[in-house]
Amino acid sequence: MRNPWNDYVLPRMTERLLDNRTVAVYRTRAASNLTGEVVEIGFGSGLNVPVYPEGVTKVVAVEPSLTARKLARERVEASNIPIEFSGLDGQHLPLPDASADSALSTFTLCTIPDAGQALAELHRVLKPGGTFGFVEHGLSPDPAIRRWQNRLNTTQQLIAGGCNLNRGIDQLITAHGFTINQLETFEMPGPKLAAPWGYIYLGSATRN
Ligand SMILES: C[S@@+](CC[C@H](N)C(=O)[O-])C[C@H]1O[C@@H](n2cnc3c(N)ncnc32)[C@H](O)[C@@H]1O
Repeated sequence: MRNPWNDYVLPRMTERLLDNRTVAVYRTRAASNLTGEVVEIGFGSGLNVPVYPEGVTKVVAVEPSLTARKLARERVEASNIPIEFSGLDGQHLPLPDASADSALSTFTLCTIPDAGQALAELHRVLKPGGTFGFVEHGLSPDPAIRRWQNRLNTTQQLIAGGCNLNRGIDQLITAHGFTINQLETFEMPGPKLAAPWGYIYLGSATRN
């Protein structure tokens, strides 16, 4: 069923919120170890396109939102790296086993309904030893912030397209066949009131 908020408004709001210099630095670091053919889940409006490093030869973009794909058009067309849309759901990738060299997820594991299933799919399509770069918001170690994350989670899901505030991103990744090699966790700079939205997991993992 069509939902104008999720279909038209949210992709534009998301682009506005996530297109800034602070987040661009996180994106650059999350993408820095990617090489070869990359699968990017939750491609959104293509805000990672400018930060793909030199060794990337092709990007397979998975994105269910038609509005986000439209917003991405200029970035995709301006890219020197070929970008091909494939599939609409990170939980079911239409790609062969062990076919990709790297994968990328930025602010997406919060929203995919079964993030574990999406990680299992990335594990399936990545070659052994392949790299998974990520920057995600998730569960804070601070009990006071965590309490608010749990309290606000249902409302957040309703207004933010299914986004969860309280997923333990590092544990999800390691529980699905990846070894995390680099991980930084920190509270994003900003007002204390925004803390439930701002606990960041930024890093790189290897497919076991
Ligand atoms: C918060 S946005 C982040 C977009 C982009 N990765 C970025 O960093 O700007 C989350 C994205 O995940 C997408 N998404 C939602 N459900 C998904 C699914 N099942 N599989 C793949 N992507 C999904 C949304 O459409 C949206 O573009």
